[in-house]
Amino acid sequence: MNRLIALMLLSLTAGHALAAGDSPALIPAPRKLECREGTFNLHPKTHILADRASQDTARYLAERLRQATGYKLKTTLGTEPRKAKGAIILTTQEAKAALGPEGYELIVAPDEVALRASGQAGMFYGVQSLLQLLPPQIFAAKPEPGQAWQAPCVWIEDQPRFKWRGVLFDTARHFFPKAEVKQLLDVLALHKVNMLQLHLTDDQGWRVEIGRYPRLTQVGAWRDEAGFGLDPKLSTTYGPDGRYGGYYTKADIWDIVAYAAARHITVVPEIEMPGHASAALAAHPELSCSGGPYTPNAKGGVFAGVYCAGREETFEFLQNVLAEVCELFPGKYIHIGGDEVPKDSWKQCPRCQARIRQEGLEDERELQSYFIRRIEKFINAQGRTLIGWSEIREGGLAQNAVVMDWIGGAAEAASTGHDVIMSPTSHCYLDYYQSTNHATEPKAIGGYVPLSKVYAFEPIPPNLAPAHQSRLLGAQGNLWTEYIPNFKHAQYMLFPRLCALAEVVWSPPGARNWEDFLRRLPVQFQRFDQLGVNYRKGTPERIGE
Ligand code: ACM
Ligand code: ZN
Repeated sequence: MNRLIALMLLSLTAGHALAAGDSPALIPAPRKLECREGTFNLHPKTHILADRASQDTARYLAERLRQATGYKLKTTLGTEPRKAKGAIILTTQEAKAALGPEGYELIVAPDEVALRASGQAGMFYGVQSLLQLLPPQIFAAKPEPGQAWQAPCVWIEDQPRFKWRGVLFDTARHFFPKAEVKQLLDVLALHKVNMLQLHLTDDQGWRVEIGRYPRLTQVGAWRDEAGFGLDPKLSTTYGPDGRYGGYYTKADIWDIVAYAAARHITVVPEIEMPGHASAALAAHPELSCSGGPYTPNAKGGVFAGVYCAGREETFEFLQNVLAEVCELFPGKYIHIGGDEVPKDSWKQCPRCQARIRQEGLEDERELQSYFIRRIEKFINAQGRTLIGWSEIREGGLAQNAVVMDWIGGAAEAASTGHDVIMSPTSHCYLDYYQSTNHATEPKAIGGYVPLSKVYAFEPIPPNLAPAHQSRLLGAQGNLWTEYIPNFKHAQYMLFPRLCALAEVVWSPPGARNWEDFLRRLPVQFQRFDQLGVNYRKGTPERIGE
């Protein structure tokens, strides 16, 4: 072969050789990155050396590399580089404690990769950055012959800006089987996202098995159609009997939680109350003010189902449900919804009105506050922390509750000693349209949140005083799925907007640059192509529309 052609082929297959001035296409952008001379070459004899604490992370890296390269890299306990020249070293020794449990330092040199982190979350994020330094084909499911595996030499020092880097996935309006949730977790890990809120119950479906109340899933997990006026063919979750829906068994949840934990992602369950409860009330109409009947509300739009706040049985039921939920989900936080509670049924209900009188409450808003406070006591007694949407502030905020702000209230809550998470509709609603041209977009619930808007999001609200900013845990993108009946569509709505949000919550404001993000994004798209992830395509100029 002609030498010149051979060289051209080599640079094509390497595919990742950096043009002068370009830094590697890492998303989210690291806090500090310095490009250095040369490249590190991964080859079949490359050793992975890891200290005892980093063994699991080393195995994760070796497995990822094996899938794409076919190399069965030797993974050895110990971090003495002389044992293996050209090694990838993962170690907690001499890690900079100031980088925190999620921070890491990554040095890629021609003859060695050194990854130091004091915690395994940080080690895992360092591995994600290392993978992103390699060609996008490193995310392939199986090896391509002839691929070269080079990473540019760099020094990276990195740590997240916020503790809560979240995504909400609504599995109630439409059901997404376990395998799809796991696929989502893989892509969240790539973005250093660490919280997945699973919206498990709503008017249209109850998606988690509860041993004590089997009717919740026998009745509440199924409806007759995909709903929301959608073409039934768009849905992928019709059962063999033609009914629409599904639910996660306890074994499914254990599997999802473990899979997430291996990626340093906490799964936060959301069990809606007192409203958004039609599916639960279809199974247990005796817990409503009227006594029923209810059906899982496939049409959407009507928030009819509210638990009766006057019946003791409501609290007994919810506490039994939450006790099982706490067993299934080991994380610190339990989300109880609390949004959009219509008060009409409470106004007409003699039991609810009797409760208001007995407890000396002012009105139905205070009855809602009574409801949430009572549930909070139970959740706190299980050693967990309650999260609720903005509306849980109505009638008085429960003592230790965290507010997830979608329609305001973060600054007020933070200034009175509550932790807050930002998820405003203006920037974080990933179910909203990505373009003003609805003719070229799948039908969405409304709104307009283009990529550029997400990227420009500043999680610290302007009215949050500096003294209270430590109360801001972070931010979350919400994927409500009324109009999203299949996983491919869900991915289309998430990506690339989630790439932007991941950078907002991870990277310091000074490391954020829209033009540079658009330069890096096509490489992320190549990774998505390898991973089989659907996303909204477009030339960089048009992506932000
Ligand atoms: C919400 O979007 N109802 C929290
Ligand atoms: Zn009632």
